[in-house]
Amino acid sequence: GDIAERTRAIVGALRSLEGPLLPILHEVQDEFGYVPHEALPVIASELNLSRAEVHGVMTFYHDYRDHPAGRHVLKLCRAEACQSMGGDAVADRMKTLLGVDFHQTALDGSVTLEPVYCLGLCACAPAAMLDGELYGRIDDQTIADLVAEVRR
Ligand code: FES
Repeated sequence: GDIAERTRAIVGALRSLEGPLLPILHEVQDEFGYVPHEALPVIASELNLSRAEVHGVMTFYHDYRDHPAGRHVLKLCRAEACQSMGGDAVADRMKTLLGVDFHQTALDGSVTLEPVYCLGLCACAPAAMLDGELYGRIDDQTIADLVAEVRR
């Protein structure tokens, strides 16, 4: 179908790169917003890999989604500086308020919650990113603001 054709075109454009699998997965995710299940056999056969190998690489890295993201994508930093500044409590609170775990999308499609490993904002830990915008020194007020923003 359409997904297979568009995936084939992406593979065709990038297959001559050295180590083409990651850039291909990246481009497929850019194209569809996630890496559709139907894209995996196409990528596998074009690169002479097994489907399990492609799937293994995809799940090894935290960058790829296997389902469409919500309208908003909220990333919470899970790296050391943020952990030491209460990152766990922020994550727990956020999961409870949004009703999702990491790598999940809220049932109403409003938001996808993802872990991220350092946003370069360690001096303002704990840090988060909503739709590409950075937030630092996350406190109860910021959490409430972020939740209100994704529900809007
Ligand atoms: Fe969280 Fe660097 S550790 S922003």
